[in-house]
Amino acid sequence: MTKTRVAVLISGRGSNMKALIDAAKAPTYPAEIVLVVSNMPGAGGLAAAAAENIRTVTINHKTFGAGADARRGFEAALTTALNGARADLVCLAGFMRLLSADFVGGWRGRLINIHPSLLPAFKGLDAHAEMLRAGVKIAGCTVHFVSAEMDAGPIIGQAAVPVFDGDTPDSLAARILAEEHRLYPECVRRIAAGDILLDGEGMVRISGAQASGALLNPPPIPTETTPPR
Ligand code: GAR
Repeated sequence: MTKTRVAVLISGRGSNMKALIDAAKAPTYPAEIVLVVSNMPGAGGLAAAAAENIRTVTINHKTFGAGADARRGFEAALTTALNGARADLVCLAGFMRLLSADFVGGWRGRLINIHPSLLPAFKGLDAHAEMLRAGVKIAGCTVHFVSAEMDAGPIIGQAAVPVFDGDTPDSLAARILAEEHRLYPECVRRIAAGDILLDGEGMVRISGAQASGALLNPPPIPTETTPPR
């Protein structure tokens, strides 16, 4: 089996990156993680990836200055790293830089992101607190193809979790993160298997054994039946 070569882009602790690395250890998993890139020197995920013998590279965006030229320089370095690793698919996993329309266009259908809300609601940085402020009763996470707008683009898969009275941003984030760690590897698996693609109209086309119904929403976690006190 020729495996899809995946590069993971991070800015922080990299728990979603680690979930992808762990999933890819299964011999039948159709993708392998060939590169981890961080824009933040010292990001926790870099050490975690190195401990798994995965190639890491830091491309510190701050060294490119400011403005449009800086972004071009940063993205040129990123492109060199991705091409050097012969990446087929790029997964943003807590990567906190906006990518330009040019860059995104060059990776059309091969660049995906995970976000801790049921998009298109609650984009951006403060999703957990905003969901609690709004009083939503169902939260979750979304994997989507990336467009030039932040946390936007055709949706590949979603997983839902309940919101309980007394939740804090941290308790909600932890419940969602557990689903992120299941959803992201599953979406990557199905993309790598060729069961999910972005068509010419920008629609996500899904085929294969589980193509219908509540697609990719993982089954409820059995231990999640008791609300927090
Ligand atoms: C995750 O919750 C991810 O969904 C979120 O950042 C966190 C990174 O955690 N991404 C975004 O908010 C993108 N807008 P991780 O570094 O442990 O994977």
